[in-house]
Amino acid sequence: MNKEKQDIVLTTEQIKEICERLGKEITRKVKGDKKPPIIVGVLKGAVPFMMDLIKYVDTTIITDFIQIKSYEGTTSTGKVQLLKDISFDCEDRTVIIVEDIVDTGCSMSFLIKHFKSHNPKRVLVCTLFNKSEARKIPVKIDFVGHELVGNHFLIGYGLDYNEVCRNLPYVFNATKKDIDELDTILK
Ligand code: IMP
Ligand code: MG
Repeated sequence: MNKEKQDIVLTTEQIKEICERLGKEITRKVKGDKKPPIIVGVLKGAVPFMMDLIKYVDTTIITDFIQIKSYEGTTSTGKVQLLKDISFDCEDRTVIIVEDIVDTGCSMSFLIKHFKSHNPKRVLVCTLFNKSEARKIPVKIDFVGHELVGNHFLIGYGLDYNEVCRNLPYVFNATKKDIDELDTILK
């Protein structure tokens, strides 16, 4: 996909700046922790963001991944399923959940509850995008990369449409034409 400038929400350069800023914010927040914090990426959407972000976290951390499912096509189903849990014990440690986007908030509220039930020191939330206008369940977000205005469907840099386009190094606003083209490719 080769997008027009006006459709781009974040360029590769802007993503790098966000990762640097958030990495520094996270470092400041957890540097005093006695036990190394666990940074948990939410599969699969948060993988590119998580990998870039942790380069700028300047303290000892543990990394892990969790996988859930809530989306089909361009709409959230509202039902969250746990597909893969983390493999490390998070008791007495700070857990930082790293997401690509918080949309209705269903996935994030599920994840926060899930981690809080394992006696962590605290649970913090970091997301590249905050789609606050689509929120159905309120969630407290500690680190936000980019606040979105409106309720658009985004693609690229981890964000997929039916599993394609996660590899794009930028993020764009998907038009009806883009979705139709992808549907044709996916047939
Ligand atoms: P929520 O449970 O509605 O907050 O949905 C969160 C999940 O839905 C995110 O982790 C994404 O995987 C997916 N999602 C939400 N909005 C978008 C989007 O605009 N593009 C691609 N995936 C999205
Ligand atoms: Mg996701």
